[in-house]
Amino acid sequence: MKNVIVNRIIDETDLIRTFEFKNVNGEKFASYEAGSHIDVETPSGEIRQYSLCGDPQTNEFLSIAIKKEDASRGGSKSMHENVEVGDFIKISDARCHFKLSNDADHHILIGAGIGITPLLSMAYQCVMEKKPYQLHYFTRSKAQAAFVELLSQPPFKDYFFLHLVANRGEIHSPLEAILKGVDSGTNVYTCGPSSFMDTVVELGSQYIPERQIHLEAFQAKKINDQVNYPFRVRLASTDTTCEVAEDETLINALEKLGIDIPTSCCEGVCGTCLIPVISGDIDHRDSFLTKEEIEDGDMMCACVSRTEKGGELIIDM
Ligand code: FES
Repeated sequence: MKNVIVNRIIDETDLIRTFEFKNVNGEKFASYEAGSHIDVETPSGEIRQYSLCGDPQTNEFLSIAIKKEDASRGGSKSMHENVEVGDFIKISDARCHFKLSNDADHHILIGAGIGITPLLSMAYQCVMEKKPYQLHYFTRSKAQAAFVELLSQPPFKDYFFLHLVANRGEIHSPLEAILKGVDSGTNVYTCGPSSFMDTVVELGSQYIPERQIHLEAFQAKKINDQVNYPFRVRLASTDTTCEVAEDETLINALEKLGIDIPTSCCEGVCGTCLIPVISGDIDHRDSFLTKEEIEDGDMMCACVSRTEKGGELIIDM
């Protein structure tokens, strides 16, 4: 994490604010891929992940947009209430797990709410690469939607579709209309509330394989009444083992074996703590891995995931 300066703050809506950062030494930032995110140490002390929403080609500044959440545990609220232009703030380098596929001829970007942020940087990239794309933005009202003015002008306006939906029940039919036309050369990218992304995946996978649908989650998966079973972890390289108690995480247990796994969100969202798995019955509790990656069974997020019913987990470390 390094200090940057808050260069500009823009109110996009009553609840969404863009924060533009510049380097302390005035140098440009390293270039990044559309769809990347950064970790931000918010004034509350909580570290949060936010998508970069600017033009990836213009790296003099980095921009993120943050919605002030009612249920904020301090992260978004403190960014809105305690950050001013000229403040120093700590951010990480950009990381990208949500990128435009080089294999696709056509990209369909579908966002809802604050999920527009990574899709905006993808739209910039599509324009730059002259790639055919569409950007669909679902929102309850124009007043609650960020970047509508920008997206309604060239170079975006011919590819931008705003869908005003009063409630969740109204998203199904416009989404179906978008997705039923997709073909094998098209990839779909979605970001927004988990129930929205679930609907995109459910409808989209009726027409294209799920590997052509990409999503960016920023919410931890809801864990309802899940039982934590104790299990054993074995390091393949040294054949050493350690018990993971029901009230500790795999990260804690690995620390006892002298292995520090880097973490960031600790909620199964960012993928920083991914570890390679050789065998074990994994209970994936993250919202980071795709369905196909889960089926492959060779990676897990050590901050939240465990084994199904105890037993032994062998990791490739
Ligand atoms: S630290 Fe973010 S997924 Fe584990």
